[in-house]
Amino acid sequence: MLLNIEHIGIAVKSLPDANALYTRLLGVAPYKEESVASEHVTTSFFKTGETKIELLQASDPNSAIAKFIEKKGEGIHHIAFEVSDIRAEMARLQAEGFILLNEEPKRGADNKLVCFIHPKSAQGVLVELCQEIK
Ligand code: CO
Repeated sequence: MLLNIEHIGIAVKSLPDANALYTRLLGVAPYKEESVASEHVTTSFFKTGETKIELLQASDPNSAIAKFIEKKGEGIHHIAFEVSDIRAEMARLQAEGFILLNEEPKRGADNKLVCFIHPKSAQGVLVELCQEIK
């Protein structure tokens, strides 16, 4: 099963502008900034109690984030759930008819193994599974 909401991913045009806005909104500064070359994104993370906010800026016009903003504008991009066994959850969800965007867990930001579920199989919501790399 999926555990707590680990973070909410928000697509932004400018990470510096968004960092400033979210610092004012949340009352806390980002605790890390990280580029994920494989995803063509630069991210920043804020701790909000038990969960996190992940801001994502495209680092390449062909990145999924750039395409998302082109289509839908800035805003909520994905919801990430923590899992304790990502491979088991991927197999379970596939058996339930969900479409996985990657066959194997891949390395995401913030020291996580991740897998995404296609939004067309989850009523328009991009769902991320993430498991901390120990
Ligand atoms: Co994420």
